[in-house]
Amino acid sequence: MTTYLDRYTAQAQRIRAYEGWLRSSAPGAMALRWLLGPGQWASNTAIYRLAEGLKLDAKTRLLDIGCERGAVLRLLDDQLHCEVPPVGLDFSRAMLEQARLDDPNTKRDAGLVQGSGIAMPFRDATFNLVTCGYVLHDLDDDEVRALFFEVGRILEPGGLAVIWDFGPTGNRTLDAWNERVVATGGSTPRLRSNTTLRRLASDVGFPFTRYADLRPFLLPPIPRASIIVGRPPAGFDPSKL
Ligand SMILES: C[S@@+](CC[C@H](N)C(=O)[O-])C[C@H]1O[C@@H](n2cnc3c(N)ncnc32)[C@H](O)[C@@H]1O
Repeated sequence: MTTYLDRYTAQAQRIRAYEGWLRSSAPGAMALRWLLGPGQWASNTAIYRLAEGLKLDAKTRLLDIGCERGAVLRLLDDQLHCEVPPVGLDFSRAMLEQARLDDPNTKRDAGLVQGSGIAMPFRDATFNLVTCGYVLHDLDDDEVRALFFEVGRILEPGGLAVIWDFGPTGNRTLDAWNERVVATGGSTPRLRSNTTLRRLASDVGFPFTRYADLRPFLLPPIPRASIIVGRPPAGFDPSKL
């Protein structure tokens, strides 16, 4: 039986390997450093329209899981001027230090929290919006379920989670190539479709799961899967969806 400690240890090892690889001069690491920082417009193009698409406002209580350098957090907070400072969670302390260096708005520093998405250090129903981009491909199915379970716990009823990651093309050769492209220093990425992501979310009891159809994403030229999941408010009737 896999214990919480086994999971935590496995994640810690993966994150250490990731940090080491990302600091290296491997061409993939250099490209990713750019995509996670100044190149956000290319790697997270669709997220620039998320606030408008979901009609978000300053009342949004945002958590970004796997926030890395905090680019998604800053982008949304700069658009929304959140009344409650947004929170960025990342397993990697080194990435959070970089996020602090990147951000001219020091008020947001307190919202950067080190911890795991599969056992989050937050109270139940703390947030009404969760974002999580490019984290799941490094997790196995049980870890993804554990993360979704946690998302359901920390979302308030009526809150939404928007999740996106690299998806499959349906062509085995191309998918094998794309897995190599997104592998970070020896990791074994999993490209999951919208259907698979929705199934994993349903497995942990989300009654509300939808294909989010986020696009475009300019770089790298690999398809994305994106879903929206939510904890329904009182009186919600899934048959009316
Ligand atoms: C590819 S980056 C995603 C960056 C950011 N979300 C974006 O869209 O630009 C993946 C990040 O997820 C973090 N991460 C991976 N597994 C995690 C976990 N279980 N809990 C929290 N953070 C995790 C890594 O440390 C890394 O910073």
